[in-house]
Amino acid sequence: MARTILITGANGEIGHGLVTRLAELEPVRIVALDLHAPDAALQARCHRVVTGDISDIALLDNLVATYDFDVVYHLAALLSTKSERQPRLANRVNVDGTLSLLEMTVSQARQQERDIKFLYPSSIAVYGLPDLPTKQKAGKVAEDDWCEPRTMYGINKLYCERLGRYYERYYRQLDAQVTQGLLDFRCLRFPGLISAVTVPTGGTSDYAPEMLHAAAAGKPYACFVRPDTRIPFMAMPDAIEALLRLEAAPRDALSRKVYNVGSFNPSANDVHQRVRAAFPEAKVTFEPDVKRQGIVDTWPIDVDDSTARRDWGWWPEYDQARAFDEYLIPAVTRRYRQPHERT
Ligand SMILES: NC(=O)c1ccc[n+]([C@@H]2O[C@H](COP(=O)([O-])OP(=O)(O)OC[C@H]3O[C@@H](n4cnc5c(N)ncnc54)[C@H](O)[C@@H]3O)[C@@H](O)[C@H]2O)c1
Repeated sequence: MARTILITGANGEIGHGLVTRLAELEPVRIVALDLHAPDAALQARCHRVVTGDISDIALLDNLVATYDFDVVYHLAALLSTKSERQPRLANRVNVDGTLSLLEMTVSQARQQERDIKFLYPSSIAVYGLPDLPTKQKAGKVAEDDWCEPRTMYGINKLYCERLGRYYERYYRQLDAQVTQGLLDFRCLRFPGLISAVTVPTGGTSDYAPEMLHAAAAGKPYACFVRPDTRIPFMAMPDAIEALLRLEAAPRDALSRKVYNVGSFNPSANDVHQRVRAAFPEAKVTFEPDVKRQGIVDTWPIDVDDSTARRDWGWWPEYDQARAFDEYLIPAVTRRYRQPHERT
């Protein structure tokens, strides 16, 4: 029987790729929830599209009364720059929204005495390196190191990772009766993601995709970090694959709830060089914004994802050269030559 999958934030960058890939892979009933209705192409791949707010408890109650979910992908969030500008709103969406959805999922699992998977995308924003020399020295950080986030977004993400673990292992631990149904929480910490089909909004790693899309569109771009700035990035198809592979992994293979996943880690100047090689006319300048730079400087140079590689066979298809040469450059070139709806 076709699985029923709830995807919140389905109209976002990851949501677009995930809905498309899931619909290609198997007969699924996708219930898509977002503040904004997706385009017609995406709607056609969904069983139902719900336009609404993740913090609307009545809406979630209605969904759970209507559908028996097998998997929940909870993507809806306010990203890092937006969260820093509106911290209370960030907490409401990123934390309260996640809490309501965890509550909804665990009650459905318990009522029906079956497990429901809950996939949660966290971020390298959970890390907080105190200064640049320490960032250089730390190199690839492992999951339990440097979890000292300095942003509202990073704090929200770290807290929700822990909420997920609580709802799976300890939820209502004082109850007299132990119930059978479980929330099966699985979380990835993504680096900055670069998509060829969507342009990001509201993230602090957006300089790399923004530089690429501006160059392809023939627009000048002022990069808001220094050329030597280095953090990990990943091509969007690998991010989708990572979510699907973690979801498919046998539960007893998972030694953790939260996994780093890495891919390549160019400096902003490396991105510029790749963009210039593909679009020689590109007009890129570096005009660091001290405050946004300060945030990026607390994020690690790279992540240690050896546990994901060992436990569930994580392996990115796209290294830096393949990501630019075979995915990003050809696709953005087509996109701006023939503007069309994102797919
Ligand atoms: N893109 C990245 O580089 C990156 C990196 C690490 C983690 N993540 C995480 O992955 C998830 C998806 O990110 P994305 O890149 O697709 O972001 P995005 O901003 O493109 O998508 C987020 C979606 O959530 C929706 N949304 C926001 N507030 C909502 C609310 N109150 N109710 C319902 N929907 C709401 C938005 O309309 C948007 O469509 C987020 O949780 C994000 O924190 C993204």
